[in-house]
Amino acid sequence: MKLKEIPESRLNTDYFIRSKTRELAETVGDGIAINALSGGVDSSTVTVLAHRALGDRLKTYFIDNGIMREGEPQRVVLLFRKLGIPVQLLDARREFFAALKGKTDPEEKRQAITDAFYRKVFGRLVKESGARFLIHGTIYTDVEETVAGIKRQHNILAQLGIDPRRAYGYSVLEPLIELRKPAVRKLAKALGLPREIYERPPFPGPALTARVIGEATPERIEIVRKATRITEEMLSKVKAFQCLAILHEDRVTGIREGRREFGLQIEVRCWNSKDAVTASPTRLPFPLLEKLAGRLTSEVPGVVSVTYNITPKPPSTIEAV
Ligand code: XMP
Repeated sequence: MKLKEIPESRLNTDYFIRSKTRELAETVGDGIAINALSGGVDSSTVTVLAHRALGDRLKTYFIDNGIMREGEPQRVVLLFRKLGIPVQLLDARREFFAALKGKTDPEEKRQAITDAFYRKVFGRLVKESGARFLIHGTIYTDVEETVAGIKRQHNILAQLGIDPRRAYGYSVLEPLIELRKPAVRKLAKALGLPREIYERPPFPGPALTARVIGEATPERIEIVRKATRITEEMLSKVKAFQCLAILHEDRVTGIREGRREFGLQIEVRCWNSKDAVTASPTRLPFPLLEKLAGRLTSEVPGVVSVTYNITPKPPSTIEAV
């Protein structure tokens, strides 16, 4: 079946919610479905939609893969609890870091996360819960970029010729697959999600590993996690599509307390974009950049150099990996 986009302007949210909840309820029947919530717009929207369709036949998990932003797992679980949707927090940090060990190639890192997620963690969850369906927040853009060979979005299976039932033992349902981000935000709002969710800047599926060049060890993820918190804090008032901090693999000579330090480099990116397909760097005020560099070098252990990326997409991409 050829996939067709429903643009935001043509999305009738009432109709969409009615037809998708009916479809989900019919497909799952009296079985059980599971889904993974990450707290991003897509997975949050799919969680509320599927919860409306299935009630307690939907089991929602937040998988703590160790590569999320600071405090994220606890914050998201609490927010959904307040919305009346129970979410189980699952600690899978060891499995993800074991899968990432020794991997430096971007596509191999993405593949390792996909496998840890679908085969290991979900494979086990499906077995334990008896679920036959996994409900996933894949959107139109994920399919496009994967098929175009730009980046393998970690949630794309069918479009790459992977049959999840044969490969992993369960079916994947993707009710948002005809929508791009602006349409998903409109739907999220219609479903009653709070503004902090439906206006949330995008965050990549492979999480902070997309922002660590080279091996994503627990220690290096911790460094980029601290840099991310500071960057997001400092740039929170900037009107931008997405701001991020990247940890480089190369070291450079710096000076700290009068002594040579062969230290780490952080690259900051802050993007203007409509749909993430093309993007341009925002013109951040220089004093703000200087303050940010000051905080990153004094608060993140080992960082002696901070750069700001001024390249548009293309030829850059938004994330580094
Ligand atoms: P790139 O780096 O490809 O990013 O220019 C485009 C947009 O997509 C996000 N991104 C991802 N989102 N799974 C996702 O759900 C992924 O594997 C992934 N990789 C990148 C990125 O943050 C940006 O908004």
